Amino acid sequence: MRPEGIAVVTGSSRGIGRAVAIELARQGFDVVATMRSPDDGRDLGEELGPAAGRLTVQRMDVTEPATIRLPEEVGVLVNNAAVERPHTPFESTPMSTWREMFETNVFGLIEVTRRAVPLMRARGHGVICNVTSSSLLAPVPFYGPYRASKAAVSALSESLRTELLPLGIRVIEILPGAIETDMLAHSEDSPVEVDHPAYRPMAERFVEMRRPLIGHGTPANAAASAIVETICQQSDAIRHSCDPMGAALLEAWRANPGERLMASMSEGWMP
Ligand SMILES: NC(=O)c1ccc[n+]([C@@H]2O[C@H](COP(=O)([O-])OP(=O)(O)OC[C@H]3O[C@@H](n4cnc5c(N)ncnc54)[C@H](OP(=O)(O)O)[C@@H]3O)[C@@H](O)[C@H]2O)c1
Repeated sequence: MRPEGIAVVTGSSRGIGRAVAIELARQGFDVVATMRSPDDGRDLGEELGPAAGRLTVQRMDVTEPATIRLPEEVGVLVNNAAVERPHTPFESTPMSTWREMFETNVFGLIEVTRRAVPLMRARGHGVICNVTSSSLLAPVPFYGPYRASKAAVSALSESLRTELLPLGIRVIEILPGAIETDMLAHSEDSPVEVDHPAYRPMAERFVEMRRPLIGHGTPANAAASAIVETICQQSDAIRHSCDPMGAALLEAWRANPGERLMASMSEGWMP
C-alpha cells in the first residue's frame, strides 16, 4: 500500500538521494529534499518540471543536530546520506576515518530516525528506508570501516523493524550494488600505496576488480525507481536490491548459508 504523508530524503544534493527525491515527487509525493548545501538543489525544480511544486529543498547536515528538522506529517524517511573514504588496510586506517564514517553513516542516521519515529507513531503509519550496501554481503578487503558502519545500520534496521511494525511503521533496507554516482567513481581510490608490501598484491587485485565497475554501474535514476517501488509495496522482506549487481549478491546470500558464502568469497581473494 502506498504510504501517506511527506517524504523526506537525506543527502539529496547528488547521486542516489537526488534521484530518489525526484522520483518520489514524480510519483506524487510531497518531498522535502534535504542536503548540506541547499544551493546544490537549486536546479531540482527545473529537472522536475510540472512536479516541481511538490518538492522543497531544506538544509540538513545529519551530523549537525540543530539542522535536523522534520515535518510533522513525515510519512516516508529515506536515510540515504553517507560518506566513503579511501579504502586502506585496517592497520593503516586512522581512527579519524572510523569516526568520520560512523558519525555520518550511523550516528547521523540514528539522530534523524529518532526524530522521525515519534512523528510517525503519532500518525500510526510510516516507512523508514535505510540505504546500506550490498558490500555487506561480501568480505571485501580494505572495506572495514565502511562495511562496519553499514552493518550497524543493518542490525539497527532489523531491531527497529520488529519494534515498529505493530505501530504501523515499516522499516526496509536497500542494498545497492554499483550505482553510477560520485561514490562509485571514487570507490577505487586505491589502497595500492600501502605502507607494507605484504598488502600490495591484494591491493592491486582490489583495484583490478573495482575498475570494470566504474562507468558501468546502474544509472541513479533506475536505482531510484526501484527504491521508490520498494517503498510503495508491502513486502515481508526487509532487504531489497535496486540494481542487478545488488540483486545477484542478495540472491546468492539468500541461497547459501552466510558463513559458507563468506568463506568461499574470502578464498577468492587469496593469492
Ligand atoms: N553508488 C553506489 O554504488 C553505492 C553502493 C552501495 C551503497 N551506496 C549507498 O547509497 C547511498 C547514496 O550513495 P551515492 O552513491 O549517491 O553517494 P554520493 O554520490 O557520494 O552522495 C552522497 C550524498 O550524501 C550526502 N552527505 C554526505 N555527508 C552528509 C551529511 N553529513 N549530511 C547530509 N548529507 C550528507 C552528500 O552531500 P554533499 O553533496 O554535501 O557531499 C551527497 O548528497 C549511500 O548511503 C551509500 O553508502 C551507494
